[in-house]
Amino acid sequence: MEFGRDVLNTPELIAEQAEVQAGMQRARSLEWYGEEIFLASEKTQVHRSPVTEFLGQFANRDNVRLDLMLQGMYEDFEEPIHWADMGDGYGMALRQAAAKPELAGKLQTTGIDLFDLNIADLSRKEKLFFRLSSPACMSKGYAPRQLQANVETVQLPEPAHFISAIELVQYLDNPLACIVNWYNQLTDHGILAIATENPWTGSIYYKDKPGHRLMKSNLPIPRVIQELSLHAIDFAFADQSDDYLGNRPQADAWDASSLVIQKAPGTRLELDTEVVSVGMPAPGFGFFKSVRYKAPETSDSPIRVVRQ
Ligand SMILES: C[S@@+](CC[C@H](N)C(=O)[O-])C[C@H]1O[C@@H](n2cnc3c(N)ncnc32)[C@H](O)[C@@H]1O
Repeated sequence: MEFGRDVLNTPELIAEQAEVQAGMQRARSLEWYGEEIFLASEKTQVHRSPVTEFLGQFANRDNVRLDLMLQGMYEDFEEPIHWADMGDGYGMALRQAAAKPELAGKLQTTGIDLFDLNIADLSRKEKLFFRLSSPACMSKGYAPRQLQANVETVQLPEPAHFISAIELVQYLDNPLACIVNWYNQLTDHGILAIATENPWTGSIYYKDKPGHRLMKSNLPIPRVIQELSLHAIDFAFADQSDDYLGNRPQADAWDASSLVIQKAPGTRLELDTEVVSVGMPAPGFGFFKSVRYKAPETSDSPIRVVRQ
């Protein structure tokens, strides 16, 4: 276990998350990760989404599975792929990918979490599920390198080709700072994927000025998307797959559950705002913090793209 440099400075966050995460699912499978990111399922191949098509670029595959995407990345990058999973919980998706014979020698995995969870503490049902679906993944050799750190400030030992954050963003005190931190640690052409079951982009607001309400298209994430477009940084987002007839629902940047961004060479992101308040959800209403940032004076993005 390595310690991120700030983890011991966040005792309140650790206490809060120890309580919040106690009853939460922290052992999602590789397949589950794939379905949240791609918004498509291998079982129902007809289902596609803008994210599926965007990530299908790797090795020209029509990828709807994470392990296939990682294999495609390996072929395109021509080097072992470093996958860093932010808020990895028990790290089961990382373990399952590492245990795939097709990915042997092609993948390096790092998990980052406030807690160093032990798979011996998985529930009986979870243990049974992983033993049946992917027996090898339970063995020690497939455990990720685990960093105990706050994802907002963690510094990876080396850049990652793929950074994921699955069912994490709703717990963060400063999600925009996390996006900046993660993007800046991608390799050139690397992929950042942030996904939750329910849309997350609309839980990030500006603090309204008295008498002013911002249109949804002016919320922080839609503005970030606009900034990425202006700088020719590729991305895709959606909150549902196409329907079974192939019709594509409109995807709105203020209502997306999956957002993927590809690192453009020579670029980095900088945060250009600050958090004003972090609202905890009312009991019984799930766990989406509502984070409010300082309202902008102009229509500029709260995250700026900087050319190096
Ligand atoms: C709901 S669990 C999801 C775990 C895993 N991604 C999955 O889908 O099974 C969220 C995880 O994020 C971690 N987490 C929350 N806030 C964090 C932070 N600021 N830094 C690091 N980890 C954090 C929690 O400890 C927890 O393990």
